[in-house]
Amino acid sequence: MPLLARVARDAVRVRDLGGVSCERITCVTPPTQESPFLRACRREPVPYTPVWFMRQAGRSLPEYRAARNGMTMLSACTRAEVITELTLQPLRRFPVDAAILFSDIVVPLRAVGVDIDIKPGVGPVTAQPFRSEADLARLRDLDPGDVPYITDAVTSLVRELGATPLIGFAGGPFTLASYLIEGGPSKNHDLTRALMYGDPGLWHGLLSRLADIAAAFLRVQVSAGASAVQLFDSWAGVVGPDDYRTAVLPHSRRIFEALAGSAVPRIHFGVGTGELLGQLGAAGADVVGVDWRVGLDEAAARVDAGKALQGNLDPAILLAPWPVIEQRVKQVLVQGRVAEGHVFNLGHGVLPQTDPDVLARVTDLVHQESARRPV
Ligand code: CP3
Repeated sequence: MPLLARVARDAVRVRDLGGVSCERITCVTPPTQESPFLRACRREPVPYTPVWFMRQAGRSLPEYRAARNGMTMLSACTRAEVITELTLQPLRRFPVDAAILFSDIVVPLRAVGVDIDIKPGVGPVTAQPFRSEADLARLRDLDPGDVPYITDAVTSLVRELGATPLIGFAGGPFTLASYLIEGGPSKNHDLTRALMYGDPGLWHGLLSRLADIAAAFLRVQVSAGASAVQLFDSWAGVVGPDDYRTAVLPHSRRIFEALAGSAVPRIHFGVGTGELLGQLGAAGADVVGVDWRVGLDEAAARVDAGKALQGNLDPAILLAPWPVIEQRVKQVLVQGRVAEGHVFNLGHGVLPQTDPDVLARVTDLVHQESARRPV
């Protein structure tokens, strides 16, 4: 972290603790709560714009590839010590303002017995795609005891991370439904939309069960100490606004409502959701994630008052020469100033071919540039 940013961060901490060392008292306002990331989510003033990267852990890091050597994705996701190590890896390289739990959106599905796997270079695949009421009857709710490795990993991560917040996450109902119905990754999610239009009873039954599973998965993470959550409804952007309102939003709303009492910021993100941004917020999110297709200034106009924004540098820009990256990062920061709160991020996940040194440079640039002109 640049010196200026560190000084500003410490100034915030000392002020809020009244200058008393946190070790010696029971913290009424623990430093994590005053981190720039959580402050920005709550739309409070920040000394600099916080930044983290979706998919910051993973294939762009050589140490990730080494640690994963020979281990399947789902076995990595069910071993607490591996989850902990992979979550921490990016933080050893970049002074990002939040960690995101290393897991996958299909982990809770597998935990309730769905026959789903993650194929290298492909993504989640299931041998028996979801088709009928009988398939729905087999899909049971998630019990915290199904995912002890998540509780253990979050507990140890919160200890290791100190003042840095840990973001928990789950897959959104449309995106989870798509993997079950298509049987694997899909470009247009045609079978999913066909079921949504053609059999509303089965559709709502499925989405409501997936919403319960996602809510339970998030509650496990929050109970163990995650200080924010993100719902990745990555592929919901293929649904038009009217259908989204009736077929998807009620289920996402139930997930956010299930967490309303926990006081952790709730982030809602999907790719290609420019036409849905207002609804992503209205579903109950505190922070709306924006991909790169809509500028943050325009996005701010599309969400209700009282929402922070997260985003939105095109991940492909990180493959361009540095002067292009620098100019685009600054542009995102300028547009983000229109929002009530801004968490810098990419518009989708880090591409595997991204140079990790570029992520480090972008992190520093965001901190330095925004600290010069605090919001
Ligand atoms: O952000 C982070 O660093 C946390 C890690 C994370 C993973 N999956 C690890 C992972 C997160 C947040 C996810 C969520 C996820 N998984 C989403 C929503 C986020 C998004 O990108 O839209 C989706 C749609 C999935 C489903 C999924 N799992 C896909 C599309 C893939 C990639 C397939 C491929 O190989 O190209 C996966 C596998 C996966 N999940 C990997 C990682 C690091 C790669 C597998 C590997 O390294 O072997």
